[in-house]
Amino acid sequence: MNIVLINGTEVKGCTYNIKNIFLNELREGNKIIEFYLPKDCPYFCCGCKTCFFTDENNCPHVEFTIPIWKAIIEADLIVFAYPVYVLRAPGQIKSLLDHFGVHWMVHRPKEEMFSKRAVILTQSVGAPNKYAQNDVATSLSWLGISDIKKLGFGLMEHVIWDKISERRKKIIKTKTIKLAKRYSRKYIVHKSIKHKILFTICKMLHQKTLKNENPISADNKYWLEKNWIKMKIKK
Ligand SMILES: Cc1cc2nc3c(=O)[nH]c(=O)nc-3n(C[C@H](O)[C@H](O)[C@H](O)COP(=O)(O)O)c2cc1C
Repeated sequence: MNIVLINGTEVKGCTYNIKNIFLNELREGNKIIEFYLPKDCPYFCCGCKTCFFTDENNCPHVEFTIPIWKAIIEADLIVFAYPVYVLRAPGQIKSLLDHFGVHWMVHRPKEEMFSKRAVILTQSVGAPNKYAQNDVATSLSWLGISDIKKLGFGLMEHVIWDKISERRKKIIKTKTIKLAKRYSRKYIVHKSIKHKILFTICKMLHQKTLKNENPISADNKYWLEKNWIKMKIKK
């Protein structure tokens, strides 16, 4: 199994330790590739829309975005591990995901995404993790992933890993290992009903816009090439 892990911080602290507890269960027999943000994608999406109008390979940040996207496409399991920053996902995580908006189902979805699984691992001092997790879950879902699991912790005691009690670390470890074990075997993922409906709606939208647009948009062209929509010949 191929695993890609996107670390939302370069700090070797709490997120790093929790992420390693998760990965250590899966190191044997799996190929793991990790990225660290912001180092591995240090630029915000600048809003040029080149990806939407032409191709993501023309993105000004292509040297950063494409290696990560390629690893995501080749992965069976995609893991995001990050701390909660002011109740949300850190900006560097959102910034990376902004670059992949071109592959949302409404634009140019990759069918490979429908068979992938994803995990969102988060922690905060004590704030709810839900909103920070949803920032990533929304993107992953629109990228086509049906099977997304979330695990979040409130550290409560300290923000420095070594200062957290053994008792709390044990709870974190037990829950994280339990989740990791779910991925110890390869598993066939099917598109969920929600994703089937969303995909059908997107298909209808593209079919409709195709009639009215000249020249054909990059999105419509992609859907035509995939044979997901058809060019209707005027009689
Ligand atoms: C800029 C920043 C904002 C944070 N915001 C919150 C917050 O809103 N709520 C919370 O409970 N913890 C917050 N934290 C704490 C982090 O979620 C996390 O527990 C801490 O950074 C330790 O994780 P790390 O060692 O992986 O960096 C924040 C930390 C930073 C650096």
